[in-house]
Amino acid sequence: MTFGPISIKPKYKRKGYGKALLDYSLDKAKALGVGAICIEGNIDFYGKSGFVVASTKGIHYYAEPRDSEVLYCLLKELKDGFLEGITGTYHTPQGYFVDENEVEKFDSHFPAKEKRSFPDSSGNQIKRN
Ligand SMILES: CC(C)(COP(=O)(O)OP(=O)(O)OC[C@H]1O[C@@H](n2cnc3c(N)ncnc32)[C@H](O)[C@@H]1OP(=O)(O)O)[C@@H](O)C(=O)NCCC(=O)NCCS
Repeated sequence: MTFGPISIKPKYKRKGYGKALLDYSLDKAKALGVGAICIEGNIDFYGKSGFVVASTKGIHYYAEPRDSEVLYCLLKELKDGFLEGITGTYHTPQGYFVDENEVEKFDSHFPAKEKRSFPDSSGNQIKRN
């Protein structure tokens, strides 16, 4: 299973809300019987809740070379040993990709906004033109 992204309003960051939300979501997934969760994110945050770099468990990130260590592709087993003996490729689900033209069309229904860019959880600048 995958999920996210989760987001905390800047003025409430680093107060434990992100971790609380994440751990709550993991408990819900576990209750659903999910064996493992694979996501794209920052190990400094997700590592606190038990995520590890997916390649260390034999899971390859679809958009990078097979032998590369992709530090933002993370996973957590919710059932012990769920991925033992399993290798494979994680592919971001299609639902995560948006049509920028459709976004522009949707946004045009709202009052004009100033376009800004912010660093993502890995510190990379996200820019939308
Ligand atoms: C990532 C995010 C959800 C974290 O939420 P938060 O409420 O600030 O995080 P928490 O206070 O629960 O942090 C728990 C621990 O994670 C680590 N952590 C959190 N944010 C971090 C960051 N930006 N860099 C490094 N470590 C971080 C810290 O160890 C922190 O514990 P500490 O504050 O005692 O050192 C929040 O910064 C955010 O909304 N970012 C923008 C959206 C985003 O990138 N979402 C994740 C994409 S999948």
